[in-house]
Amino acid sequence: MGVTVVTGAGSGIGRATAQRFARRGSTVIVSDINEATGKETVELILAAGGKAVFRKLDVADAEEWEHFADWVCAEFGVPDLLVNNAGILIGGGFLEQSGDDWRRMIQINMMSPMIGARAFVHRMTEAGTRGHIVNIASAGAFLPTAVAPSYVTAKAGVWLGTQALRAEFGGQGIGVSAICPGLIRTNLAANGSRGGVDASDSAGWAQRLGAGQQFFSPRSPERVAAAIERAVRWNLSTVPVGAEAWLAWYGYRLSPSLIRGLSGLVRMPLADRAIELSSRILGGAR
Ligand SMILES: NC(=O)c1ccc[n+]([C@@H]2O[C@H](COP(=O)([O-])OP(=O)(O)OC[C@H]3O[C@@H](n4cnc5c(N)ncnc54)[C@H](O)[C@@H]3O)[C@@H](O)[C@H]2O)c1
Repeated sequence: MGVTVVTGAGSGIGRATAQRFARRGSTVIVSDINEATGKETVELILAAGGKAVFRKLDVADAEEWEHFADWVCAEFGVPDLLVNNAGILIGGGFLEQSGDDWRRMIQINMMSPMIGARAFVHRMTEAGTRGHIVNIASAGAFLPTAVAPSYVTAKAGVWLGTQALRAEFGGQGIGVSAICPGLIRTNLAANGSRGGVDASDSAGWAQRLGAGQQFFSPRSPERVAAAIERAVRWNLSTVPVGAEAWLAWYGYRLSPSLIRGLSGLVRMPLADRAIELSSRILGGAR
């Protein structure tokens, strides 16, 4: 089944997606900013009898995207599927997140799926081939939370950008889908940071939140990979993953003010206390 490109495929949802499409017979271009983990994904796929190659890509760099797209098309032809998955988490209230936090967040989580889609849709339409773009948004796209405002803003942008792309290219054989996962067991929190505190406090916070994410998240990244496959097969516009994601999706459409009110109940001091408590519980359980 053709060629699949996955960004951020060195971990979590990206790795599970790369593995799933490789099992379906796709040649997978595994890309990540982290060379070691990206190559590990390739090794896992090859060991399972699939086809994959690694190519380093920092999705925040628009110029790198162009070189990357040129390389993919020259080596493998225009891909059938691009999964814009790479992403980061920055926690902290609105006034705690700096301008740099916001710029980094918007560049990686919002701009990069649009830049990536642009690079490949352009080549798909030029070559006259059919193709599919999947953007990993989040249930956060429908939750105006006070604990990670830059994250949910970026994800809402990705969701709407996906719909705009779909409106423009849907009639030209290009499928476009947004996946909106709820809580998934990955390294997102452990790889993340917290605005408004110094680097070592931020690292400790991410470590504690990461341990909680691994322990309390109800589902594996494979669930998201399966949703991506479904989205491509049926060309679905929005695919929430998990009960809380479905609740956010329908809740926000039915009553934005109710969802905003509920989201606003959780502020950083409460979130920090919950993270501290979960860390103590997990420490005691060890
Ligand atoms: N885990 C969840 O609960 C959850 C929920 C909703 C949405 N998501 C989204 O799913 C996507 C995948 O996240 P995950 O949960 O698998 O996290 P993860 O941290 O396990 O994986 C993210 C990957 O992206 C890579 N990455 C980060 N910055 C990059 C950059 N600039 N260029 C290239 N690669 C980069 C990381 O190296 C890592 O391999 C993200 O967009 C995230 O926002 C995750």
